Amino acid sequence: QRQKTLALIKPDAYTNIGKIIQAIEDNNFTINNLKMCKLNLRDAQEFYAEHRGKPFYDELTNYMCSDFIVAIELVGNDCINQWKKVMGPTNCQVARVDAPQSLRAIFGQDGVKNSLHGSDSATSAKRELDFFFSKQSQLKKTAIF
Ligand code: CMP
Repeated sequence: QRQKTLALIKPDAYTNIGKIIQAIEDNNFTINNLKMCKLNLRDAQEFYAEHRGKPFYDELTNYMCSDFIVAIELVGNDCINQWKKVMGPTNCQVARVDAPQSLRAIFGQDGVKNSLHGSDSATSAKRELDFFFSKQSQLKKTAIF
């Protein structure tokens, strides 16, 4: 069924935006909205609040505010799962072995610097899309454009 998801190009991959957007088009997703921005640490901590307390949380949140990111609203049939499939496994070393054509296999560096994010459910897609694109988005006050 027709869904929305948030695709995020992380700091290690934003210079590959052209190739990533080509892959989005090749996989028949529709881009509904797109924003290039810089998070501050508070933004990154809020976005990844569900991972607070995990061993990789500090590295993840510092990485996510280290450079530009690109937030993309994707629309398409079953696009939450389809985008996950196009990205490949979270750990890009695993991706290189199990899904060598996946975007994380091509663009990721390691477990944390894995080049891309995708929402993992319709509930998180709504929250994450609001985070970047709602009129009330806190990000508007803190991002550098
Ligand atoms: P993402 O899909 O953005 O969701 C949470 C992120 O945390 C994930 O991609 C990785 O960047 C990072 N991450 C998740 N699990 C681990 C892990 N086990 N070790 C290190 N980083 C992780």
